[in-house]
Amino acid sequence: MKRLFVAFGLLLLAAPVLTAPAQAQDYIAIRQAGQDLMAGTFGGLRIAVTAKTDVKTLLPAANGLAAWMRVYPTLFPKGTETGGNTKALPAVWSDRAGFDKAAANLVDAAQKLADLAKAGDTEAFAAQVKVVGEACGACHKDYRAK
Ligand code: HEC
Repeated sequence: MKRLFVAFGLLLLAAPVLTAPAQAQDYIAIRQAGQDLMAGTFGGLRIAVTAKTDVKTLLPAANGLAAWMRVYPTLFPKGTETGGNTKALPAVWSDRAGFDKAAANLVDAAQKLADLAKAGDTEAFAAQVKVVGEACGACHKDYRAK
């Protein structure tokens, strides 16, 4: 029993370390790694379209793009403007509404892509991949350094 209390005490001591808030460089690493995965997924979709892959099999990828972009703006809290090697422009924080809108546009475009995958509409899917790509570029133009 006594040993249990000691173990519990150690846990309490460790708790503040375990729950320490993420540092700016952690946020930056997460958002960059996620964008790399997203770029890989998006590139895979373009190749799949050219290869005339059955679009129904591309549903998880389309869903993934939408799900990731839904959480992406939460990875830009105040205090993560600098640190690491972030390429995010100050406009992310000075024009937050615009940034959130750019993310929402991508979510909508990817959601539509998912719907077309579900419907098995190959032609409309191919056209929608281009719309998604434009949504990437639109955000980068205003919110990401070259
Ligand atoms: C809402 C805005 C927004 C959208 C939409 C967006 N990005 Fe980004 N992206 C950013 C920002 C901001 C960064 C820089 C993040 C940082 O360095 O902290 C970035 C970084 C990247 C990077 C570089 C990651 C690294 O390792 O430094 C890639 C690749 C990328 N985005 C690809 C994409 C692709 C592909 C899409 C569309 C499928 C997309 N992005 C959509 C804002 C966006």
